[in-house]
Amino acid sequence: MSQKEETKKEETKKEETKKEETKQEEKKEETKKQDLVTPYEIKAVSETGIDYDKLVDRFGASMINEEMIEKLTEIATKKGIKLHHWIRRGLYFCHHDLHRIIIDYEQGKPFFLYTGRGPSGQMHLGHLVSFILTKHFQDIFGCAVVVQMTDDEKYLWNRKFTQLQIHKFLMDNIKDIISVGFDPEKTFIFSDYQYIKEMYPNITKVQRAITFSQVKGTFGFTNSNNIGQVAFPAIQIVPCFSSTFPKIFENFPKSKSKKSRGFNCLIPCAIDQAPYFRQAREIAYRIKEKKPSLIYAKFFPALQGHKTKMSSSKQTTAIYLTDKPNQIKNKINKHAFSGGGRTKEEHEKFGADLTVDVPYAYLKVFLEDDELLEEIRVKYGNGTMGTVQVKRTLIETLQKIVKKHQETKAQVTDETVELFMTPRALKFD
Ligand code: TRP
Repeated sequence: MSQKEETKKEETKKEETKKEETKQEEKKEETKKQDLVTPYEIKAVSETGIDYDKLVDRFGASMINEEMIEKLTEIATKKGIKLHHWIRRGLYFCHHDLHRIIIDYEQGKPFFLYTGRGPSGQMHLGHLVSFILTKHFQDIFGCAVVVQMTDDEKYLWNRKFTQLQIHKFLMDNIKDIISVGFDPEKTFIFSDYQYIKEMYPNITKVQRAITFSQVKGTFGFTNSNNIGQVAFPAIQIVPCFSSTFPKIFENFPKSKSKKSRGFNCLIPCAIDQAPYFRQAREIAYRIKEKKPSLIYAKFFPALQGHKTKMSSSKQTTAIYLTDKPNQIKNKINKHAFSGGGRTKEEHEKFGADLTVDVPYAYLKVFLEDDELLEEIRVKYGNGTMGTVQVKRTLIETLQKIVKKHQETKAQVTDETVELFMTPRALKFD
């Protein structure tokens, strides 16, 4: 190659690199304008929080529509249960293939529910949401539940914790989860550290099916992530395949499908967990497994406002399941971001801005009484009801819920925990 040719080649190469760089810069600028939603970081662009419509589009999910709510109501009513207000009020707002589960149910085919928790500290009310909904589905569908405790994940992501500390959180959190009321004959709770051996063959199947470049794209991993983190998604993915639990599902009818093994799974979770399960859906058929169905919840806001999620490390951002009545009162009064008018006059004139008001958002989640909630929406919204009264209603509601939880948890013994964690054949009916 001549000198000239070589310089030319180098120049084109430089140009290409430059182009590539601008492209990446543009992409960065573009993502800056989007809400950031990954299992590890959440950041909304707007004051009012995440734009869920856009997120549903980006994630290729579908909104839960009226028809689906009617169908679920019908199923619940047959069991004498009122469909959970979180579905009626849109806290659980979108899904992937939820209709498949409904069809399985109607045809008497087996399916199971899967959800989980990373034990990184004491639990707050927001942490309980997925478990309460999963328990509700267990009641209306009568199906089995598996709960993954990702103690390994929390170790990999938190340098400040020892494995012993995480183990303590694990045992304590499991008591909180059991207190939600799961059926001991139909529920298996497992720690990754303890159950890894059974999952490992499937984990390596999933790991072989996903490239580094794919996880970089889906989870935003970079060269500075540790290698345990890079490999972790496979561990959270495998429990959605029934073949991971041969012993647990021993009593379940075997599927005859040649295309894929086992039976369907429905995962209730918050939308930040979507990357794991979108990745699972992408590779499922390649490893002859069924794509999991999902039902996603919106984030539960921090007391300080909709822009953030509650944090396990900041006590004042959330109501903890261990909080005393007085702590609940003080937190709401001091920290719950209010959308009410700044002065009495202003409030009476313009009413409260319910789109940013945290006490109202919490009431939508925890106040079961539909009529009272509607009265608050109207009167607080038009300024005839004041912030003090709304906060008082919220304080009383939460004090009652937390107290009841604490009483139930006090009854959960170490033996009960062991029972739920013992690998055993779950009941199928
Ligand atoms: N990664 C989740 C957390 O940090 C825990 C988890 C594991 C999970 N498997 C899940 C959550 C399935 C929802 C569904 O809390």
